Amino acid sequence: MQNGIVTVSYIGATILFILALGGLSHQETSRRGNLYGMLGMGIAVLATVLGIVSSNHHVMLAGMLIGGAIGLVLAKKVAMTQMPELVAILHSLVGLAAVLVGFVNFLEHNPDITGVNRTIHDVETYLGILIGAITLSGSVVAFGKLSGKIGGKPVLLPGRHWMNLTLLAVVIYSGYLFVGQSAAGGGLSPLIVMTVLSLLFGIHMVMAIGGADMPVVVSMLNSYSGWAAAATGFMLNNDLLIVVGALVGSSGAILSYIMCRAMNRKFLAVIAGGFGTGGGTVAATEQTGEVTSVDAEEAAALLLDAKEVMIVPGYGMAVAQAQHTVNEITRALRERGVNVRFGIHPVAGRMPGHMNVLLAEARVPYDIVFEMDEVNEDFPEVDVSMVIGANDIVNPSAQEEPNSPIAGMPVLEVWKGRTTIVLKRSMASGYAGVDNPLFYKENTRMLFGDAKTSLDSVLKHLQG
Ligand code: TAP
Repeated sequence: MQNGIVTVSYIGATILFILALGGLSHQETSRRGNLYGMLGMGIAVLATVLGIVSSNHHVMLAGMLIGGAIGLVLAKKVAMTQMPELVAILHSLVGLAAVLVGFVNFLEHNPDITGVNRTIHDVETYLGILIGAITLSGSVVAFGKLSGKIGGKPVLLPGRHWMNLTLLAVVIYSGYLFVGQSAAGGGLSPLIVMTVLSLLFGIHMVMAIGGADMPVVVSMLNSYSGWAAAATGFMLNNDLLIVVGALVGSSGAILSYIMCRAMNRKFLAVIAGGFGTGGGTVAATEQTGEVTSVDAEEAAALLLDAKEVMIVPGYGMAVAQAQHTVNEITRALRERGVNVRFGIHPVAGRMPGHMNVLLAEARVPYDIVFEMDEVNEDFPEVDVSMVIGANDIVNPSAQEEPNSPIAGMPVLEVWKGRTTIVLKRSMASGYAGVDNPLFYKENTRMLFGDAKTSLDSVLKHLQG
């Protein structure tokens, strides 16, 4: 393939990736956005395989077939609730690729590159491996935390800030040694030292972050994986990889900012770790008191009696796969003249937009699905709030207890409505491991059981 065609294909793919990002910013256009992205990636892969790769096509084809088959099986098998951990482990592969490309780039020492160009080339390699190694180990730990294989509690080593500073100093010094020695054909030792330290830093950084702040970590690693891809692009002299990496890196950074705002956290403070630990010296108050439970029939009666209903879905709705029944209940209530709205917390579930995806899949109309800020002041006028498998995002202790691990995190103020029905299986705490005083409030009714089973029963009573 001629160079010109490759360039045109790359420009076309870049435009499609930008259109994809634009499409993904609204639910109505997200399917189209995905299609643009797939088309762009198809063009990018074809142009690279046919136009850039000049030898060893059979090895690459074998790699693509094996990788593609694994991807296909995983995508077909993975449950919606496992998506965040799948995304995390995929990020780790981008990091691994950057590390491997960096080492190959270094080991294939090209003596023709000299002077300033050598320095630039070495810095690119060094940074590529650095970002890649942090992304790799950080993403593996995030995978462990999100899948429950590693506990959600932050691991805070004594003197951790000093440890991070020391790591940073050693990494900078190793970089100085590496650039100096590489010009003379050496430099492997400082490169290996830096790689090991970066892997340790990635582990330490994510281990120190508390459960409730994991959304920031997910989006931050998303951003890192983009920068790792961009660094790989610099090492391979591939413009498209640089542009796409920068797009992913910057959109991930914007997402991290949005997540931090949603959690009322400062980005640097989250990265430094320590949030989600209980904050101060006093542990969050353990909740005790009377709990009022209802059955499905009573819940249906409360809903039928209401004019204004707010549905607040959370992670448990995803676990129970209750979204289709939720849609049917919404339809049944609206047919009876009840105004039904959805209040979506920015970190509900386990990944950005988790609830929106599920509700869209169940065909809940977009115009009754609202973000937290759009509805949070309306709760005093709400007759019944139905909290479906949500916990942390409706926990009043975020406002009432300064020592709570989730203190300061904005929450949906359901308790300000007339009645709140909470659907969950037990009195267990949510992802952040914090007790929830909402369950003990006078106007709260607990409907215990799997959300799908309970809602199926509520629907029967609504229809009967
Ligand atoms: P959680 O606080 O995790 O609470 C979910 C609740 O659902 C649990 O208390 C559980 O109680 C219940 N549940 C589980 N399976 C159920 C089922 N089959 N039927 C009925 N209920 C079920 O969820 P949330 O309120 O959505 O808050 C999200 C949390 O995850 C936040 O702490 C957030 O920071 C964190 N997080 C979010 C993200 C993103 S990006 N969204 C990423 C990582 C972490 P039972 O066991 O008693 O049923």
